[in-house]
Amino acid sequence: MSDDIPGYLHDDAALAPSPVTKDDLDKLLASVLFGPEDQAALRTAGEVLGGQVEQVLDVWYGFVGSHPHLLAYFSTPSGEPIGEYLDRVRARFGRWIIDTCTRTYDEQWLAYQQEIALRHTREKKNATDGVDSTPYIPLRYLIAFIYPITATIRPFLAANGHDEAEVEAMFQAWFKAVTLQIALWSQPYAGTAW
Ligand code: HEM
Repeated sequence: MSDDIPGYLHDDAALAPSPVTKDDLDKLLASVLFGPEDQAALRTAGEVLGGQVEQVLDVWYGFVGSHPHLLAYFSTPSGEPIGEYLDRVRARFGRWIIDTCTRTYDEQWLAYQQEIALRHTREKKNATDGVDSTPYIPLRYLIAFIYPITATIRPFLAANGHDEAEVEAMFQAWFKAVTLQIALWSQPYAGTAW
């Protein structure tokens, strides 16, 4: 389905299993109050967002591009933005929007979650795209990004004419799914404190 996206490995059988267990995941899902109604709302969100991925990415890339301290992570150590890096990550980011809404949160998903986490750390940043950029994304920015990645999605969720209650349900489910993932991605940063 997405074999044509360079570096996208969700369905790769060779992906290392996550150190995060299904039990860890279930407890985190409970901690963000994620239930079956959220899963259903995310499925609808996937349909709504499916036709707007490029526009969502335009907003997010506009946000990163207008903040030099964030653009630095897509740039060379001397501060030159790397166009190919931005483009290649953008394609995987677009796929992630759909995955967040449509994937079953199982062991395979956990394995790719861990891969994405590592790609923000010293262990794997830059390796997928073979670039010379900054060595890692500080954890504090991953956490802070929960807000813009959530707040900016609302108008897109409202774009298909769903009523206010449906939009709100999709929005809450998205917020929970993003918070959950950043909690998962904190694992390699936190080590034994996770
Ligand atoms: C809510 C927080 C965040 C989300 C949901 C998110 C999402 C993603 C996704 C989906 C990818 C592609 C994963 C893949 O390879 O399939 C990615 C990679 C990347 N993100 Fe983030 N991200 C977040 C925070 C940040 C922040 C704060 C920065 C800093 C500007 C950042 C910079 C990057 C970079 C540079 C890559 C490429 C890493 C590599 O070399 O492979 N991300 N992110």
